Amino acid sequence: MTEDTYIGAVDQGTTGTRFMVFDHDGRVVANAYQKHEQIYPEPGWVEHDPEEIWENTEAVILEALSEGGLEAEQLEAIGITNQRETTLVWDRESGRPLANAIVWQDRRTTDRVEALQDEGKEEWVREKTGLEPDAYFSATKAEWLLDNTDQIKLARMRPDDVRDRAEAGELMLGTIDSWMIYNLTGEHITDVTNASRTMLFNIHDMDWDEELLDEFNVPAAMLPEVRPSSDEATYGSTDADGFLGAEIPVAGALGDQQAALFGQTCYDAGDAKNTYGTGSFMLMNTGDEAVTSEHGLLTTVGFQRSGEPVQYALEGSIFITGAAIEWLEDMTLIEDAADTEKLARSVDSTDGVYFVPAFTGLGAPHWDQRARGTIVGMTRGTRREHLVRATLESIAFQTRDVAEAMESDSGIELTSLRVDGGAVKNNYLCQLQSNILNTDIVRPQVDETTALGSAYAAGLAVGYWSDLDELRNNWQVDREFSPDDGAKNVDARYGRWQEAVERSRDWARD
Ligand code: G3P
Repeated sequence: MTEDTYIGAVDQGTTGTRFMVFDHDGRVVANAYQKHEQIYPEPGWVEHDPEEIWENTEAVILEALSEGGLEAEQLEAIGITNQRETTLVWDRESGRPLANAIVWQDRRTTDRVEALQDEGKEEWVREKTGLEPDAYFSATKAEWLLDNTDQIKLARMRPDDVRDRAEAGELMLGTIDSWMIYNLTGEHITDVTNASRTMLFNIHDMDWDEELLDEFNVPAAMLPEVRPSSDEATYGSTDADGFLGAEIPVAGALGDQQAALFGQTCYDAGDAKNTYGTGSFMLMNTGDEAVTSEHGLLTTVGFQRSGEPVQYALEGSIFITGAAIEWLEDMTLIEDAADTEKLARSVDSTDGVYFVPAFTGLGAPHWDQRARGTIVGMTRGTRREHLVRATLESIAFQTRDVAEAMESDSGIELTSLRVDGGAVKNNYLCQLQSNILNTDIVRPQVDETTALGSAYAAGLAVGYWSDLDELRNNWQVDREFSPDDGAKNVDARYGRWQEAVERSRDWARD
């Protein structure tokens, strides 16, 4: 490590792509971001154009380097972090996607998952993968992509060729990390955390599961090689003749929620964080033990460093939190997410309004694919301020749903919770979260911990950082929120919230 070298991180999220450059103290030295289109071909379907995502990735990397006055050669390594579960298929030779990627929020395979449940295969899937069978994960998306080529608008090959070509290994299947690694290095690789979200990967054997591949009819020849999240062997390097004009090793990858766990330096069993993005995802490190949830959480891979045992995590996945604020914007109830703090503070309560933003069903701990968004308790006097406040409360209440499950599963009482993600800039939300959980909320100085976590994974692999203690020393508190007067009556309000959740359930029937 010399003074003017850095680590880069590509953060390919649900709404956009970011490239950040970090120095040895974990400080941000360059940053660029671009949104991509959200494609909704039918109700409940969500797609992304993989080529648009890759073009944006090249653009943000070049923009960040240029605005930071940096040369590509100053990057000692690049890490990848990404929206998880989102699935695509591309041609091994041309590198062109078969179709749009099916996004994690997409519900088109709900019936397939219900068929699996009707056949009594839920427990079988849970035992192998740690996951609650749901259309959220990649397996049924992959199966759909291979079976429905005639319906895929972008299909660039004859529909009847697709299965044969997949069996012959001429097509590649991957999540977004693999798409990024392939475009950066030409290799077909995924990391253990992303693999653990496919519902095709056995988290105990740490390998693709042949029985699951059979169940979902996914040819093994299409799958990426699974590697540690921080890999001393590296996944490959960028091409000196490519867009970056330099050969930089790509040495780390983690799904975005695991990356945030890593960036928040939650390296010991019992350490937990909650990230507020499109959805919210609370993860608790459980060490080298894969703890089975009795309360609707997922068991997932937290991270793995080369030559070291896998670290597992318990996860509470909440599908819609920040996206509910975006919805307020779409409805023109607010102009900008930053308005919510002032509007919510301008009223004393939600005036009895509860909003369950189950737009894409409910994730942990309820797992209801057919739940839908529900607002209850409105009167003629309900104003937009009340709805805005109810939206922020829904974020905090959903977090309490998963926090209670996590305490029950782990037997560990949450006395403080590290938070990150876009919405934690909102002080009102952080205070509300502290009151609703009756727990201290700790916000770190670098709130882009997702990108930071993947930079840490890549930097550790190439020796830019020497050990986890160095990373722990980089972590600094920005502000801590403790329960205050607003915590009064919280349990009664939480009871009403739970009733509202019940009303949102099982709504979208055929
Ligand atoms: O599991 C989905 C999650 O990885 C998406 O995260 O931050 O892109 O909304 P985000």
